[in-house]
Amino acid sequence: MGWVANRRDHGGCIFIDLRDREGLTQIVFDPQESAEAHERAADLRREYVLAIRGKVVSRGDNANTNLATGAVEVRVHAFELFNAAKTPPFQIDDRVDASDVTRLKYRYLDLRRAPLQKNLQLRHRVNQATRAYLDGQGFLEIETPFLIKSTPGGARNFLVPSRVNAGEFYALPESPQIFKQLFMVAGYDRYFQICRCLRDEDLRADRQPEFTQIDLEMSFVEVADVCDVVEGLLASIWQTALGVSVKRPFPRLPYAEAMSKYGVDKPDLRFGLPLAEISAEARGSGFRVFEDAIAKGGIVVALVVPEGGEKFSRKDLDTLIPDEAKVFGAKGVAWARVQAGGTWQAPFAKAISESARAAMSAKLGAREGALILFVADLPDVAHAAMGRVRNFIGQRLGLIRDGEWSFLWVTDFPLFERGEGGAIVAKHHPFTSPVDDDVPLLETAPERARAKAYDVVLNGNELGGGSVRIHRRDIQRTVFKVLGLSEDDIQRKFGFLLEAFEYGAPPHGGLAIGMDRLMMLLTGEDSLRDVIAFPKTQRGQDLMIDAPSEVEQKQLDELSIRLSLPVS
Ligand code: AMO
Ligand code: AMP
Repeated sequence: MGWVANRRDHGGCIFIDLRDREGLTQIVFDPQESAEAHERAADLRREYVLAIRGKVVSRGDNANTNLATGAVEVRVHAFELFNAAKTPPFQIDDRVDASDVTRLKYRYLDLRRAPLQKNLQLRHRVNQATRAYLDGQGFLEIETPFLIKSTPGGARNFLVPSRVNAGEFYALPESPQIFKQLFMVAGYDRYFQICRCLRDEDLRADRQPEFTQIDLEMSFVEVADVCDVVEGLLASIWQTALGVSVKRPFPRLPYAEAMSKYGVDKPDLRFGLPLAEISAEARGSGFRVFEDAIAKGGIVVALVVPEGGEKFSRKDLDTLIPDEAKVFGAKGVAWARVQAGGTWQAPFAKAISESARAAMSAKLGAREGALILFVADLPDVAHAAMGRVRNFIGQRLGLIRDGEWSFLWVTDFPLFERGEGGAIVAKHHPFTSPVDDDVPLLETAPERARAKAYDVVLNGNELGGGSVRIHRRDIQRTVFKVLGLSEDDIQRKFGFLLEAFEYGAPPHGGLAIGMDRLMMLLTGEDSLRDVIAFPKTQRGQDLMIDAPSEVEQKQLDELSIRLSLPVS
């Protein structure tokens, strides 16, 4: 049984490739086999749904090695037509010749295509491997509610109005975070869930408003215990899905080192090209761009591309590479080609002192033929911009080792960072424990406090993140205060959590893996859309069911909601 993928009428016989979720099989309508079936087969068109009965025979020398079933064909004795089909808006095959809009509008047709079917079948296997592994490790799969309370500090929440409690709203969970911590208080010391999370954020290729996490939490653990379980889980998934055994333990990189060496907290270690700071050498160098930046509290970050001097055109150097850096707010990228005798060919060669030039070359180990790139700016901008330039160059020069699975842990994140308008916000989330030695800093210099937080990174992507949590009421309260919550706010929004911590809360910690991102990397796709059955567009729309959409006035009335739309 299956769908007509295509039909070829060769005068004597009619050939059809019949499709089901395993792929295509050739079926043959031969008048000598059944004159009646052959005659009716003339009316079959693409996407008609059939059941056939016939004899499987060898195709002998005509075997099609491109098809899994290509060695055989089915000679049809009889068939039943279950349903005809309109001509689909695009052809159902491996190539995609339709716009994204059309594909999303007719998602059920897009989902018939083999690449998406393969991805979703693999996703199923990853789900099963996850459950098997975590069950084997003593984890309990427990569900948590979807209609919860809006709490500040995380992603923007989707809200759901309550009809029964007019004027009040539920929030949809951005993650099961608080509930899984309460499971620990309740004594369920190993929890997991393959759980949908909802966040009203700006969307990108690697972000969907609803996405899935493999969420887990454990009691009586330190950072290493959580990392160990997560590595075991990922190794088991890679073994099941790809037959690949990944190297363990994963390397660990403290956040500060990741930033200074690679400019990002999710470095791609499938290639080298580390960054280096040369502020000391640049101070007093005479080059105004560097000196001005340093005077304003900035730094100079450099990247050496050995033998890179001739690999980039002036257009690359003056436009393409600076454009990458400008995405993160850098004002430009300076470049120099190291020549014989150690001199530099650079637009600013005359502006920089000979001794500074020599000191920089020595610090960077830049030899003849190398290209050096520089960004001078505030540390955050300089790192981020150079991190992006590093990725660009790695790709451009084909330095990224294909087929390698480069897992790594980034650890020791700062507990806090500056958010919009300079306010202190939690870097991970407000339930993350400070490093023991840094607890006193909460009162004196919170920005210097490090967190017991960790991200698992794969090939330059943040795959998952987690932390050891605060389990003491006094420390949790202090953290809320640093975050600017008043005593009243704390009670109203998190009173239940602080109270729970008074009834015997064990030390605990956990992590969540982004399942969609994991699938995207596992399948080598570029977008989350290719591993989610019914994804949303950039504007958060489902084009197939046409959501979001307006509702009846009656529904609004029941919810006591009056709209006040911006005039457009
Ligand atoms: P976090 O917010 O870091 O942690 O999320 C964990 C992982 O989920 C994935 N992810 C997303 N995937 C697709 N679309 C999105 N919009 C999106 N946002 C996040 C990422 C990310 O690494 N409760 C904590 C976990 C914990 O502390 O245990 C949490 O949600 O791969
Ligand atoms: P200018 O003096 O502005 O013409 O800049 C001289 C060179 O330095 C040009 O190649 C600019 O792209 C580059 N440049 C400008 N600002 C920066 C910066 N903040 N960091 C690194 N290079 C820069």
